[in-house]
Amino acid sequence: MTGKLYGIGVGPGDPELLTVKAKGMLEGAAVIAYPVNRRGEESTAMEIVRGAVDVSGKRVIELIFSMDPDDNVRRRCRSDAVKELAGILDEGQDIAMVTLGDVGVYSTYMYVDEEIKGLGYETEVVPGIPSFCSGAAKARIPLVIGDEGLAVVSMAKNNEASLESALSGFDNVVVMKAWNSMGSLLESIERHGMGKKNATVISNIGMEGEYIGPLDPEREYGYFTTVIVKKGNGDGE
Ligand SMILES: C[S@@+](CC[C@H](N)C(=O)[O-])C[C@H]1O[C@@H](n2cnc3c(N)ncnc32)[C@H](O)[C@@H]1O
Repeated sequence: MTGKLYGIGVGPGDPELLTVKAKGMLEGAAVIAYPVNRRGEESTAMEIVRGAVDVSGKRVIELIFSMDPDDNVRRRCRSDAVKELAGILDEGQDIAMVTLGDVGVYSTYMYVDEEIKGLGYETEVVPGIPSFCSGAAKARIPLVIGDEGLAVVSMAKNNEASLESALSGFDNVVVMKAWNSMGSLLESIERHGMGKKNATVISNIGMEGEYIGPLDPEREYGYFTTVIVKKGNGDGE
C-alpha cells in the first residue's frame, strides 16, 4: 500500500500557534519534508516545528523549490521534488510536508498536492494560521468588520495592477511580500487618498525582530513583511 501526503500549515512563527491537529500529525509522522530555495538553507517552517515537536528519530528531508526567475528551472526543481516524494510514498510511508502559515496562502505545497494527486496518490491538507491573521490579532485591528470586504495581494513582482484594483475596490487590503516595495506601496496608498496612518506593517510576526507599526519607507524590512491597509483608518495624513 502506498503512503499518503499531508500538507501541513504550521502558522506564522510562534510554535504555540501550531494547531492541535497539526502538532498531533507531526508527532505521529515518520517522515517530515520541508521546502527550501537552496540546499542547506534554514527553513522557518521547520524551525517552528522543532519548537513544538521532538523530531529526533524521524526522517526529515529537505526539498528544493528554486525561486529562480526562469520558469524551466522552477518546474525542474518541482518535478525532482515530486519524484522524491513519490518514491517515499511508494515505500508505503506517509509524509508530512510543512508550510509556513496556512497551506492555501501563497504556498508551494498546493502545486505539489496537485501533481502528487495527479499521479494517483492520496493527499490531505491541514490548514494553519495565516501570517496576516496573526499580525492583525497582535496589532488589535479587525481585518474586516460589518459589511466590509478584504483583498489579499502579493507585491512579489511589484504587482502594481492588482494592488491598484484592490485599493480601488476593497475597504481592506492585505499586501504580502511587501518587504522591498514599501516606497511604491506608499505612493499607491497616497494616490487613493490615504496616508501612512491607513497602513499597518506587520513584520516577523512571532519571530525574532517582530515589528508592528506604521509604514516607514526609509526603514529596512525583511522578507516576512506584510502590510494591512484599511480605508477606514487614519485621516489620510
Ligand atoms: C510565501 S508567502 C507565505 C504565506 C503563508 N503561507 C501565510 O499563510 O502567511 C510569504 C509572505 O507571507 C508573509 N509572512 C509570512 N510569515 C510572516 C510573518 N511571520 N510575519 C509577517 N508576514 C509574514 C510575508 O508577506 C511574506 O513575504
